Amino acid sequence: MNISRLDFAHLPAPIEALSRLSEALDGPRLLIKRDDQTGLAFGGNKTRKLEFLVAEAREQGANTLISGGALQSNHCRQTAAATARLGFKCILVLTGDKPQQASGNLLLDQTFGAEIVYVADRKDRDRILRETFDGATNDRKKPYLIPYGGSNATCAFGYAFPMKELIDQNVDADWIVFATSSDGTHAGLLLRQRIFGFSGRILESALMLVTG
Ligand SMILES: Cc1ncc(COP(=O)(O)O)c(C=O)c1O
Repeated sequence: MNISRLDFAHLPAPIEALSRLSEALDGPRLLIKRDDQTGLAFGGNKTRKLEFLVAEAREQGANTLISGGALQSNHCRQTAAATARLGFKCILVLTGDKPQQASGNLLLDQTFGAEIVYVADRKDRDRILRETFDGATNDRKKPYLIPYGGSNATCAFGYAFPMKELIDQNVDADWIVFATSSDGTHAGLLLRQRIFGFSGRILESALMLVTG
């Protein structure tokens, strides 16, 4: 398959045994794949997706990446970091009121040079994201739209290949348990099952974000 990909992620992500947890549960051998160490700005699952998404943006001649999410979105932080690293402009459409003082991921988004569009009401977010994209197109900014959570067909390749990593790392798991939200990670893992023939089970666990 001819799939474009950049290579800024720190891979393969290491694997650690959770031996004390296994012991406490009096149960199975538990391993954790440290996708929190994938690089850019603090790592996380989005780095893997962005290797494919940013490659596609570059191929399409884009110079501005636009995406959206919650005010403290991990996905948006990683997108902003990727744009700073690779020389794209970045516009983030974030749901929430503009705080008097930015903190956490929002502060990092700004530090990486992202332009922030604040959306007070969640019901307006899709419309404003679309308008932001259309406005950037009209301004000849050559935008590329990364959907919420970076989840689309392109990103799914990001989570097909880590399973190849597991094979290379000699991990033969019965179950893979992962956090889910926009489902791109899930789609990639299922794709992986098809491509690499994983015979174990895949269990998703809803990611709950509790905000103040
Ligand atoms: C740290 C982390 N893990 C997992 C997920 C869920 O991934 P996906 O959106 O691909 O389902 C998210 C998404 O917000 C996340 O921030």
